[in-house]
Amino acid sequence: MFNLRYPGGIWLILAGHILSQFTLALATDPQRCVIKRTEDPEVDDSTAILHTVKKCSRNSIIEFTPGNYSLFTPVSFLGLDNVTFLLNGNIILPSNITRVQVEINSTLNQPATYAIPWIYIQGTNVQVIGSESFEFGRFYSFGQQWWDLGIRTLRPHLATFNVTNGVLKNLKIIKPIAWGWSIPGQNIHISNHFVDAKPDNATRDDTISFPFNTDGFNLSGKNITVDGYYGHNGDDCVSVINGARDIVAKNGYCGFSSHGLSIGSLGRDGAVHTVENVLFKKWTMDGAVYGARFKSWTGGRGYGMNIAWEDITLVNVSTGVFITQNYYDQDKGPKPPNPSNSSTKIINIAFRNFKGGLGTSWTDGSCISDPCWNYVPGLDEPKAVILDLYPDTATNITLKEINIQPFNNPGGTPNVICDPAALSEAEESTLGFKCANGPFIPA
Ligand SMILES: *[C@@H]1O[C@H](CO)[C@@H](O)[C@H](O)[C@H]1NC(C)=O
Ligand SMILES: *[C@@H]1O[C@H](CO)[C@@H](O)[C@H](O)[C@H]1NC(C)=O
Ligand SMILES: *[C@@H]1O[C@H](CO)[C@@H](O)[C@H](O)[C@H]1NC(C)=O
Ligand SMILES: *[C@@H]1O[C@H](CO)[C@@H](O)[C@H](O)[C@H]1NC(C)=O
Ligand SMILES: *[C@@H]1O[C@H](CO)[C@@H](O)[C@H](O)[C@H]1NC(C)=O
Ligand SMILES: *[C@@H]1O[C@H](CO)[C@@H](O)[C@H](O)[C@H]1NC(C)=O
Ligand SMILES: *[C@@H]1O[C@H](CO)[C@@H](O)[C@H](O)[C@H]1NC(C)=O
Ligand SMILES: *[C@@H]1O[C@H](CO)[C@@H](O)[C@H](O)[C@H]1NC(C)=O
Ligand SMILES: *[C@@H]1O[C@H](CO)[C@@H](O)[C@H](O)[C@H]1NC(C)=O
Ligand SMILES: *[C@@H]1O[C@H](CO)[C@@H](O)[C@H](O)[C@H]1NC(C)=O
Ligand SMILES: *[C@@H]1O[C@H](CO)[C@@H](O)[C@H](O)[C@H]1NC(C)=O
Repeated sequence: MFNLRYPGGIWLILAGHILSQFTLALATDPQRCVIKRTEDPEVDDSTAILHTVKKCSRNSIIEFTPGNYSLFTPVSFLGLDNVTFLLNGNIILPSNITRVQVEINSTLNQPATYAIPWIYIQGTNVQVIGSESFEFGRFYSFGQQWWDLGIRTLRPHLATFNVTNGVLKNLKIIKPIAWGWSIPGQNIHISNHFVDAKPDNATRDDTISFPFNTDGFNLSGKNITVDGYYGHNGDDCVSVINGARDIVAKNGYCGFSSHGLSIGSLGRDGAVHTVENVLFKKWTMDGAVYGARFKSWTGGRGYGMNIAWEDITLVNVSTGVFITQNYYDQDKGPKPPNPSNSSTKIINIAFRNFKGGLGTSWTDGSCISDPCWNYVPGLDEPKAVILDLYPDTATNITLKEINIQPFNNPGGTPNVICDPAALSEAEESTLGFKCANGPFIPA
């Protein structure tokens, strides 16, 4: 089956040799579709939403009016073509945990690569524009109770945006259950994004109610810009994962206990994962476990190439600059063997203009095992830099204009963890600091 488009908005749909359908669309009036909303918060609006989106899946503006829409069933919007969603209302997920789990357990939602999204959007030229008003353009997921109970089974993430030529703007994510938006698409512009994944009754160091896995974005697509992010969460603000190319993430603030602006994880179970051309620029990391982070699993076989973090302000962070090529689940036993001595390669990675100060703790409330998931040998206090490299597999690492202070000590010198034996040849002369456990000494 294939579709032909003729000027004037006439669609011919041919199935085999038979002209099965013939529709006239209005070429002049853009199709504007308003989604009906029941005022009763107990009533699921999913069917009404799906119905309208199906009807208006081409050359349409689909409008949610100010007010709450109950989206109690996971939905997929597939094959969209030139559609703008005006989210002038809010989307409400079920507040009942069991209900969410039952839905996820039986969902017919489109598969994502890792876990199931509540909302799956696929198509070309798709925009999701939230209200200018701070009260609307929201997604309420009632994650707090999931964090309180530490439930991590049958947990959906909010949305997958698998679109070519896409826009996400002015969206507000309120208490997500797990991570927010996964972006496997291409040519995507995201702006003015807001994430509230901060528990109401816990600090960053509480192990109870910790909002683990509440990443803002998982980016695996191509040509994606995130410009303008403000959030509090308990995992990466932006995590750039396998397949990602040509990524810029800039002008953001990450609070509560962010796990950083991250590349990875890459290379789990020996996978060939690759990431290329990434720039993080102009971010403030407040209370974060990491400012900048590169994380690959022991035994990986891909690479991360041409990656930079620039103009990063640190406030009370645990580690400013962090690289590990040797990650494993430390709470699940000893490091798995790596008989082929492989590692995800690092090629051209730069950290420029970092300023600010470290906090008082090297970890946060997500540390619920001994050793902690984020422990590396020698880690007993906040550090300016940790390079946990696999020998001879990282080339052209540079740190420039690094001005990080210990907690509450503007004149002091912070410490670093770095093993010169793991550096590639001639790296020592271009690294930008002295690679040795001890004080940070620019070089
Ligand atoms: C895209 O849809 C809008 C209506 O939202 C319409 O005005 C416009 O002509 C469409 N663009 C194309 C290329 O068909
Ligand atoms: C929408 O739902 C949220 C979450 O339950 C609630 O806080 C808010 O008051 C509701 N807004 C409207 C306009 O009903
Ligand atoms: C929560 O959802 C489950 C599954 O749908 C249902 O059995 C249960 O009665 C609901 N609980 C409440 C308090 O509504
Ligand atoms: C999920 O579905 C499986 C298979 O239908 C069932 O055995 C299991 O009990 C379900 N789990 C939950 C939490 O609903
Ligand atoms: C995204 O859509 C493409 C087809 O357009 C498909 O091949 C791919 O598997 C989808 N990715 C995800 C993560 O859904
Ligand atoms: C990248 O995406 C933007 C939209 O965000 C688009 O304007 C631009 O043309 C794309 N660049 C390439 C090389 O495709
Ligand atoms: C937050 O409140 C919930 C619900 O009362 C409770 O289960 C949880 O333990 C509290 N968290 C903290 C850190 O006190
Ligand atoms: C997205 O982020 C979450 C939270 O860290 C992570 O568990 C998940 O594996 C990521 N998704 C993919 C496809 O890697
Ligand atoms: C850093 O944390 C300390 C102790 O919690 C606090 O007093 C201080 O205000 C924080 N600094 C900034 C700049 O927020
Ligand atoms: C891996 O490294 C070990 C220790 O250096 C060495 O004995 C072994 O031969 C190496 N294996 C391969 C496949 O290179
Ligand atoms: C090292 O990386 C920088 C970017 O950080 C790049 O400009 C430079 O060309 C690279 N050097 C080599 C020798 O590839």
